[in-house]
Amino acid sequence: MTKFKEEGDIGYITSINGSLIKIKGIEKKARLHDLVKVVQHNIIGEVIQIHVDHIIAQCYEETFNLKLNQQVINLGEPLSMELGPGLLGKIFDGIQRPLEFALMQSGNEGFLKRGLEFPALSRTKLWEFKPVKKINDTVSTGDVIGVVQETDSILHKIMVPPGISGKITHVVKGGQYHIDDEIYRLKIKNEEQSFTMIQKWPITEGRPFIKKLNLNEPLLTGLRVIDLLFPIAKGGSVAVPGGFGTGKTVIQQSLAKWCDADVIIFVGCGERGNEIADVLQQFSELKDPRTGKTLLNRIVLIANTSNMPVSAREASIFSGVTIGEYYRDMGYDVALLADSTSRWAESLREISGLLEEMPAEEGYPAYLPSKLSSFYERAGIVQVLGNSSEKKRIGSLTIIGSVSPPSGDFNEPVTSNTKRFVQTFWALDASLAYSKHYPAINWRDSYSNYPEYISDWWYERDIDWRGIELDWDQCRIKVNEILSIENDLKNVTQLIGEENLPDEQQLILLIAKIIKNGFLIQNAFNEIDCFTTPKKLLAQIKLILLFYQEARDLIRQGVLIENIKNLEIVNDILRVSSTIPNNDFSKLEDLREKLMNEMDSLKSFKVR
Ligand SMILES: Nc1ncnc2c1ncn2[C@@H]1O[C@H](COP(=O)(O)OP(=O)(O)OP(=O)(O)O)[C@@H](O)[C@H]1O
Ligand SMILES: [Mg+2]
Repeated sequence: MTKFKEEGDIGYITSINGSLIKIKGIEKKARLHDLVKVVQHNIIGEVIQIHVDHIIAQCYEETFNLKLNQQVINLGEPLSMELGPGLLGKIFDGIQRPLEFALMQSGNEGFLKRGLEFPALSRTKLWEFKPVKKINDTVSTGDVIGVVQETDSILHKIMVPPGISGKITHVVKGGQYHIDDEIYRLKIKNEEQSFTMIQKWPITEGRPFIKKLNLNEPLLTGLRVIDLLFPIAKGGSVAVPGGFGTGKTVIQQSLAKWCDADVIIFVGCGERGNEIADVLQQFSELKDPRTGKTLLNRIVLIANTSNMPVSAREASIFSGVTIGEYYRDMGYDVALLADSTSRWAESLREISGLLEEMPAEEGYPAYLPSKLSSFYERAGIVQVLGNSSEKKRIGSLTIIGSVSPPSGDFNEPVTSNTKRFVQTFWALDASLAYSKHYPAINWRDSYSNYPEYISDWWYERDIDWRGIELDWDQCRIKVNEILSIENDLKNVTQLIGEENLPDEQQLILLIAKIIKNGFLIQNAFNEIDCFTTPKKLLAQIKLILLFYQEARDLIRQGVLIENIKNLEIVNDILRVSSTIPNNDFSKLEDLREKLMNEMDSLKSFKVR
């Protein structure tokens, strides 16, 4: 890894406390976050405290069998990700050891053997490299030297690493190369430097870019409650808090499958090894709706098995962000899904406990908020570095983290602090989940700050829907209004009974019911219902709101609510989600005609 062996790079263990080890001998040269290695066991750790006569390191693996006086070397660099072709479709642990491979080697399905060391990316695989630059071109950070077709959908750009610029003195011809073969050389201030397809980047530092841009496009999810009521923008940040079994993982998996990001980074935190194997199995069976090939082709999985100590768990979400930023820098839209950040926060608490730090709320360290913010603040849509032959390159990283508050209490520290740093909050509700209302996103406690950023995008894609003049934003506001009136009516309804309310209020209750059962509820496991396009979403909600508008007019003209409730169209609307496929727009238009005809037929029923 580096040149050690010098004095000050070698030390020895003087005490062991759980995953923390105290080391003497390297304190003069060590820097915070440098990696150290216990030579005999091949265990990697990270320097987390430096004192006058010793340092404290936290190991990324179990420390059993470690002994006093065993030799430790300072590797002199922070934990970095190896970036290059071959990341997609792979599963790594929190410190980027390829997990399938490791599991195979261990001969054990669930657990990793300690001290295994592999390169993160395969050194034997050949990639077809096509140069796009030539000798004598001057290049700088982010410029694309050549490309590799990494998977069917992703063209991997081999970019000049951050902080480097110079003149090309050599670039290989198109052909097959290993990722560690020399691909190009640059003359940098009279010195020639050689580059391969790999670059490294420390996980705790954001990769550089030109500037952050304003968010202006939704990250479509195909989930109606999200795309209409609580949308995300590309480059945004979202928290999904929910108690046990409320559907966090199903939502994350639906997003991995359907959201319109080019690349997905899925970070599974603190799970058992065999649970991770299940997730992997599920993803490999899923087809990418865009290419028809396995979904794994656009996914990088990072998994922390629970037998790995807490510190590797802590690294994992930052490892994921770093890989995400790398694909963002190629100009892709990347979504990072972390399930669950609570397990990650618990690892912070454990380490802090071992260090005997002064605990803050519920034993979490006082720096929990700053750690959370350093994670979520790496989301964004940016103009990336490097542009020579292309136009401006823009990439985005959207971060969606689930939170598992113990006993579903959203006031606990991880949920409440996460809330401070995200712009969208999908509050999952145990009572909705219990009544099989999925996705169990509670419309009263959830929010999104993105509608104003993306309403133009929707406006440009609005559909012409005869009879109703509302665009996406107005539909959203109307639906919120109806749900909120319904909520206000709840108490009165309980007191006097629904049938004793005025007809117009009964209509509100009916429409709210249609919105909930026919629009917000969405079955992730139904072929037609699992994903809704923007066009179907708009038609579906406009159909409901048209029904409301026409019915209210009739009631005002004296038609009875019973007659409206009994219309056949009510059932048709409730079944749209699961019966009308996304591409069958004419069926939706047929329903609109039916709606108007049935309403017309009621005009003769006026009684008042
Ligand atoms: N959108 C959905 N459509 C249909 N069923 C769902 C949906 N979401 C969740 N479920 C049901 O709820 C169950 C629990 O969901 P899930 O495993 O996602 O919960 P979780 O919040 O991740 O739980 P845990 O706290 O254990 O991690 C699923 O197995 C499934 O049966
Ligand atoms: Mg889960």
